[in-house]
Amino acid sequence: MLDADFALFNVDYLVTVAPGSHPRASGPLGVIERAALASKQGKIVWLGPMEELHGAVQLEPDATILNTHGGTVLPGFVDPHTHPIFAGTRVDDFYRRALGESYSQQLKSGGIGQTIEATRGASEDLLLDLAFTYADGFLVQGITTIEGKTGYGLTQEDELKALRVLTRLQRLHPLKVVPAFLGAHVVPPDYQGEADAYVDEVVERWLPAAKDRAVFVDAWFDEGAFNVEQGRRILERARDLGFLLTAHANELGPHGGARVAAELGARSVDHVNYLDDGDIEALKRHGTVAVLLPGTTFFLGSDGYAPARRLIDAGVTVALGTDFNPGTSFTQNMQFILTLAVLKLQMTAEEAIEAATMGGARAVDLDDCTGSLEVGKYCDFAVYRVGDYREIPYRYATNLVESVVACGEQVVKDGQVCTAPRPLARVT
Ligand code: NIG
Ligand code: FE
Repeated sequence: MLDADFALFNVDYLVTVAPGSHPRASGPLGVIERAALASKQGKIVWLGPMEELHGAVQLEPDATILNTHGGTVLPGFVDPHTHPIFAGTRVDDFYRRALGESYSQQLKSGGIGQTIEATRGASEDLLLDLAFTYADGFLVQGITTIEGKTGYGLTQEDELKALRVLTRLQRLHPLKVVPAFLGAHVVPPDYQGEADAYVDEVVERWLPAAKDRAVFVDAWFDEGAFNVEQGRRILERARDLGFLLTAHANELGPHGGARVAAELGARSVDHVNYLDDGDIEALKRHGTVAVLLPGTTFFLGSDGYAPARRLIDAGVTVALGTDFNPGTSFTQNMQFILTLAVLKLQMTAEEAIEAATMGGARAVDLDDCTGSLEVGKYCDFAVYRVGDYREIPYRYATNLVESVVACGEQVVKDGQVCTAPRPLARVT
């Protein structure tokens, strides 16, 4: 008998995203019908048909039981691309774009500068307080892991402040957070015309200082951000310091960035709206995950959606993310991202769900511990009140999540965060 301190009862459809991992798991997503699951100390110890639970698992006397009386359960989403450390909004940019101004124009004229200024002006405690609110916002949408980036400080001090916020968030909040250092987001207003000098700073001083706090280093390769040589310098130095690599690349137009980042061993290249066949071949050859962010394309009013079908057909692993940030994608609704993946990227429901779970886990290098429901992985899942997982992308722009469990602890109940109150008062 296996010991368990948490059990999930009476699920109509347990979507494991691990086909072949259980004799009763069927279809491309490995669905077990009328299922149950048990975990101990945050990790899954057993899953299978409900009627087999009591013969296999001994529940501890004070075990927590979540009886869903039906419903569909998916692994917690893994969002591999978010920017949760910022202050303020960019609401005016949004309305100006609606009247025809382009994001590229806004980038040149300093739209992002507003967020940089507000973030520099915010105290560490205020940023943590905001990050807590956003972390709650991810959980209620069924997201249990994020990769969270710095990138709106863009001085050494402000980038390290953002990294400390990510570390504190990681310790204090049940959302799992993988910290990524994005000191090379854009050339900040105070370095205009001196991109190379800015890169010198990042490479020589900031990256070594970020060493103990960030897992990934990111850089944005695009017209209006960093060129191939600048991005290469940043990623090479980061690799030499032992960071994992990721890149924003080819978001606004064709660029050499995606291919160079893949060649340097980046775990993922993100956005990648504009890729030629050689770029796709490079991603395939280097095992680089393509993180697709269709919410950003949608919110920028662009038609330049990533070539998901070409990527999938070429055998590249695809992930989906929200790109949560104030400038280009102020959403945490991964379910809506799935809708866009179906409608705009021509992905099937199964491909979209896999990309938002295992794909994300691969992109952030956590595929051995989350992204699917399998024995030994974290007990991270969300309960949806739908009779078929295909309804999740279909019932669009809403939130169908009823409950969320992270590491065997219920963190969302009836659609609301139900953990202990945050350990902070708002600092004004
Ligand atoms: O992922 N592409 C680069 N960075 C962010 C947006 C930055 C901003 O405008 O605030 C993104 O879309
Ligand atoms: Fe981004």
